[in-house]
Amino acid sequence: MPRFDNQTVLVTGGTGGQGTSHVRAFHAEGANVVIGDIDAERGAALADELGPRARFTHLDVIDESSWSAAVLATESAFGALNVLVNNAGVQNPPATIEDTDQATWSRVLDINLTGTFLGIKAAVPALRRAAGGVIVNIASTMALGGTAHYAPYVASKWAVRGLTRTAALELGRDHIRVNAIHPGVIATPFIHEPAAGATAAIADFYSPEPFAIPRLGEPTDVTRLLLFLTSSEASFITGSEYVIDGGLLLGPALRTEAA
Ligand SMILES: NC(=O)c1ccc[n+]([C@@H]2O[C@H](COP(=O)([O-])OP(=O)(O)OC[C@H]3O[C@@H](n4cnc5c(N)ncnc54)[C@H](O)[C@@H]3O)[C@@H](O)[C@H]2O)c1
Repeated sequence: MPRFDNQTVLVTGGTGGQGTSHVRAFHAEGANVVIGDIDAERGAALADELGPRARFTHLDVIDESSWSAAVLATESAFGALNVLVNNAGVQNPPATIEDTDQATWSRVLDINLTGTFLGIKAAVPALRRAAGGVIVNIASTMALGGTAHYAPYVASKWAVRGLTRTAALELGRDHIRVNAIHPGVIATPFIHEPAAGATAAIADFYSPEPFAIPRLGEPTDVTRLLLFLTSSEASFITGSEYVIDGGLLLGPALRTEAA
């Protein structure tokens, strides 16, 4: 039996590189899927393609009323919400802290952190109505160290870790598990297209060549971990964080000739 039969999953940023992969995989494993995103054109097209077990809902994660509407739309369409994936996120244009304006700082914190907070807040009553559920917050390997020129992004993703652990403590007795995933560098528009206000994309200056697994991550790499964490196979896992980065955080691998 598919792992997500009779389950309903809401994926924020569901039209993005990783979000689309997650939505397709949950759907293929039997779930009803709700694609939450600000990109209505791509969202509607993906929902149309997937058919009756898919819906698009216009969701701006920084807007609390948008969240209420998305949760209501989910329950109206499919009767319940079982899984929330807080995946929507943006990066800042690279700049030192000194050169980062407050508007950029606030925008990144709003979407990546406050959006995750509002998502948990909006979903919890619905997850309780469903007698429990799972939340996964997509953070980043940048939440485990410092990265020059990415202070807003790094700070937002570090904070998502604290939110994840706190939510796990608050919600465990309601049978709601909360975990975080830290992807490394994944081949999506996020790294192939410049951030708003930037001219260069991450892929223009990052190469996976020095690392243990010398390739970019694929969205499906992250999807497979996500599906495990949201499935009943992971029923004893909460408040935890999972790095999926091909060895990026290990640092450069030794060259054969130097070993
Ligand atoms: N690609 C990477 O290398 C990488 C690495 C680590 C973490 N991440 C994280 O993974 C997540 C997914 O990123 P991706 O790689 O798929 O990038 P992406 O740019 O392809 O997708 C991001 C999605 O978020 C949506 N979005 C942006 N602002 C929104 C808002 N206010 N409300 C709702 N949706 C909004 C966009 O429309 C887009 O569909 C993000 O949280 C990102 O920070 C990405």
